[in-house]
Amino acid sequence: MKIENSTILITGGTSGIGLEFVKQLTKQGAAKIIVTGRDSLKLEQTKKQFPNIHTVQSNVSSYKEIERLYQEVTEKFPSLNIVINNAGIMRNLDLQDTSMDLENITREIDINLSGTIRMVHQFLPHLKIQKSAAIVNISSGLAFIPFPLSPIYSASKAGIHAYSQVLRLQLKSTNVKVFEVVPPSTETPLQNAFSNIDPESAGPIMKVDKMVGVAIQGILKDKSEILPGMAKALKLMGRFAPKFSVNFIDKTLEKAKKK
Ligand SMILES: NC(=O)c1ccc[n+]([C@@H]2O[C@H](COP(=O)([O-])OP(=O)(O)OC[C@H]3O[C@@H](n4cnc5c(N)ncnc54)[C@H](OP(=O)(O)O)[C@@H]3O)[C@@H](O)[C@H]2O)c1
Repeated sequence: MKIENSTILITGGTSGIGLEFVKQLTKQGAAKIIVTGRDSLKLEQTKKQFPNIHTVQSNVSSYKEIERLYQEVTEKFPSLNIVINNAGIMRNLDLQDTSMDLENITREIDINLSGTIRMVHQFLPHLKIQKSAAIVNISSGLAFIPFPLSPIYSASKAGIHAYSQVLRLQLKSTNVKVFEVVPPSTETPLQNAFSNIDPESAGPIMKVDKMVGVAIQGILKDKSEILPGMAKALKLMGRFAPKFSVNFIDKTLEKAKKK
């Protein structure tokens, strides 16, 4: 997939992996980059750092806001041809916590999974009329082995993996390529929710610039499933030893809990 001269929309492009995509896609010669996020301050800071980008405040868990985003972006940037579904949250959740209400408990599904599906559904007709187009879904190594501290997150990412596989199949005779980037544990603010875990003993963590570099090389080489760093090992472990792997991670986390 060619990136040079493309018009690219990145959800959640104000921090971590999304922000690094902005940086590296700019270097790759993307013509226009549109970035979304919920926090207006973070959007302002991103715009200051990259004055050529366009920012839109938009929450992917609201279908009304996706409809508005579509109107604004396709009107201002009719050449839009790549959508990167990156926006996501990850919480440290105890499933026995009764203070969590029914609306709150599914937040990762609403943002990470429903947000991705709705973004694709809204933008697909526009992408199909472009000469060359792509959808890039950011899943996680935890799509293959659930993370004991983040049950809803793991379910959302397993859902993105399944959905991306079928999306690719159903679009095989169109001009729209479907990429899935499967980051392993990556150094970004998302990890702040796990301050009770000693990062040294919790396992390897990939630098964000390296992770996004591998993702972009994969997109340029048309690799439909991109598995940077430990993601390949997680996929194999999840396939060949799922029970052992989840128990092993659970035990490692118990040891890594800060006293
Ligand atoms: N870091 C890792 O270890 C890791 C590993 C595997 C996969 N991933 C995936 O990579 C993606 C990016 O994560 P990250 O590590 O870069 O996290 P991050 O630094 O926390 O960035 C998340 C971004 O998503 C935005 N966002 C969150 N909820 C949103 C919503 N409802 N609507 C629109 N934007 C929203 C945030 O901005 P606002 O808060 O202002 O909305 C922010 O820009 C996520 O899908 C994550 O699951 C990360």
